[in-house]
Formats: sequence, C-alpha cells, structure tokens
Amino acid sequence: MSHAHFLPTLAVATLLLTACAAPDTSNDHGQARAAPAGSKHSMGGGMMHGRMAVASLTPTPGNNVRGLVMFHQMDGAMMVHARVSGLKPNAELGFHVHEVGNCASPDGSSAGGHFNPDGKPHGPQNAAHHAGDLPALKADALGVADQKFMVTGPTIADGPLSVVGRSVIVHAQADDYTTQPTGNAGARLACGVIASH
Ligand code: CU
Ligand code: ZN
Repeated sequence: MSHAHFLPTLAVATLLLTACAAPDTSNDHGQARAAPAGSKHSMGGGMMHGRMAVASLTPTPGNNVRGLVMFHQMDGAMMVHARVSGLKPNAELGFHVHEVGNCASPDGSSAGGHFNPDGKPHGPQNAAHHAGDLPALKADALGVADQKFMVTGPTIADGPLSVVGRSVIVHAQADDYTTQPTGNAGARLACGVIASH
C-alpha cells in the first residue's frame, strides 16, 4: 500500500469501527455516511465501495441478544460484519437474512422465512443455499460474537437479490444447514431490519 493511500484508508476504517462500537450514536453514522461517495478503499483484501447497509439487532422478549450487523458491498461479494452480544457463551448460533423487514412480533415470526429469491434449498455456503443463509455466529466465553463473512449472491445493490428492507435474525440454536427450510435453528432471539446507510 502506498503512503498516499494510508491515511484515507485509516480514517475510513476508524469511522467504521466507531460506527460499530456505538450503534446508537447518530453522529457517528452521519460521519460514516460522509465518506466520499463513489470512492474506493482497500479493506480486508477487497475493494470496498461507499455504499453499505446496517441492521440494529434488538432482543425478543426473554433474552438479551443485541448488536449491529453491517453490510458492505465489495467487488463480487458482500461482506457481513456482525457484532452481537448476549449470546449463550461458546455456542454456535444460526444466523440468517429473513425475507420480511418486520421485527414487530414478539417471537420474530413477522420476519418471515429465510430470504430465498431464487428458490434454493436451505444449506451451507459451499452448496445450494438460500440467499439469506449465512455462516454461523460463534459466541466467545463472554457470549460475544464479532465476525466478518464474505458471501456471494446477496447484495445491498438494488434488485431481486438485495437484502435492504429485509431483516437479520439470530437464533437460539445452531443451524444444521440440512433441515428444510430452517436449519432447525430454533427460536428467534434477536431481529433487526436492514436499512440502507
Ligand atoms: Cu433465521
Ligand atoms: Zn436458509
């Protein structure tokens, strides 16, 4: 990386980290959005464009799972950055984009089923799968997950594969990536509507 590119990249990375760490601070969101539109920044080995989307996860009644999921459009893939707390320590938990951007119901059922615009079965990333199927969240000993996934297929750009206006769900159990059409991941512990940012 040339020296000329270092400072702008660091500045943007700092803004994104700030946005992740303080999801409730609207000022930080405003600063992140103020990054030059259309510019490209190197991060995580891919080219990142200005556009992103965010879902703020709020717990369904009876648990304390909350966090922020950020979606960044890269060249040829979408990066999903999840920061979630209140999880069962050391557990693996099902994590999906669901079809409906509605988290109003107490059990999260208003979010509908897994986002599946192209009629695929539920499955893992390396086989046929719903566009909304994501790698599992893995909680640490404190019940926190901070993970970045690169997924191909879904996008934050306009079109039938766009996740914007849909929702993200964190489940109570592991996704077996086999049971149709849910992965048998259990109750919905947190839900967040994905909004363009
Ligand atoms: Cu789900
Ligand atoms: Zn699925």
